[in-house]
Amino acid sequence: MTISYTLITGASSGIGLAIAEEFARQKHHLILVARREGKLKELADKLKKFGVKVEVISADLAVNAGAEALFEKVQKQGLNVDILVNNAGRGNSGEFSEQAPDHMRGTLELNMTSLTILSRLFIDQMKINGYGRILNVASIAGFMPGPGLAVYHATKAYVLSLSEALNAELKGTGVSVTASCPGPTESEFHTQADTTSLKGFNMVSFMTAKQVAEEAYVALKKEQAFIIHGRLNQAFATTPKLMPRRWVPRIVKTFLAK
Ligand SMILES: NC(=O)c1ccc[n+]([C@@H]2O[C@H](COP(=O)([O-])OP(=O)(O)OC[C@H]3O[C@@H](n4cnc5c(N)ncnc54)[C@H](OP(=O)(O)O)[C@@H]3O)[C@@H](O)[C@H]2O)c1
Repeated sequence: MTISYTLITGASSGIGLAIAEEFARQKHHLILVARREGKLKELADKLKKFGVKVEVISADLAVNAGAEALFEKVQKQGLNVDILVNNAGRGNSGEFSEQAPDHMRGTLELNMTSLTILSRLFIDQMKINGYGRILNVASIAGFMPGPGLAVYHATKAYVLSLSEALNAELKGTGVSVTASCPGPTESEFHTQADTTSLKGFNMVSFMTAKQVAEEAYVALKKEQAFIIHGRLNQAFATTPKLMPRRWVPRIVKTFLAK
């Protein structure tokens, strides 16, 4: 019998690590992916107590053709993926005109291109098997433009739009796509993206990565097109629809100011 795996990108910290723990608890075999192999190996050892197989693949998904290289490694190892979790992502706060173009390109590659190409490459086998699940970690940032975090918000709007479209397109195939939309969540993201001094982030309470992972797992099982985690985040994500569109960036700008 073929063993099926859940492949999780960005499993070395934060939400991806919590998703790995949740899937292991639910008895899924795992392929953990990120750049920091040492962290992945530590996690793999820890998760074996759940009686699941855990493979580790080090990959950089912010580079051109990073997704194809990862897919090839998985194929070479003969691993069958029935659940794909596109979680790896990054942001960078600050003015658009001050961002390094190369860093921006890497963010677009990681948050959008790799996520899209990995979905495209793994979906063929899922369709043949008549079963597959894709979980894309978007954000409530996807529901509104983000002056001060503009590229990040735009990439998450892309992830949300793509996920909802694919969820509808794939109805009846046995494959479903779910976008997870957390708000501020405890992880390494905020140091990495330099968001710790932004006003809005100091006004709200953060969810834990564990809470997000548990809810995302349930949403994936229910084949939901998307889930917004937490009541307050649901309000943040839906309020922009209730006001004139031109107001939204101005209000978000105050939230994302230092
Ligand atoms: N934390 C929040 O407030 C929040 C809110 C909404 C959405 N999100 C989204 O949640 C997802 C996970 O972020 P997080 O909050 O858990 O942040 P995190 O703790 O910084 O985790 C990011 C993960 O992505 C991996 N990663 C980063 N660059 C990579 C690259 N070039 N290639 C492969 N993997 C890479 C990191 O591993 P390595 O460094 O080992 O490569 C790490 O495992 C992201 O998509 C983020 O946008 C976060």
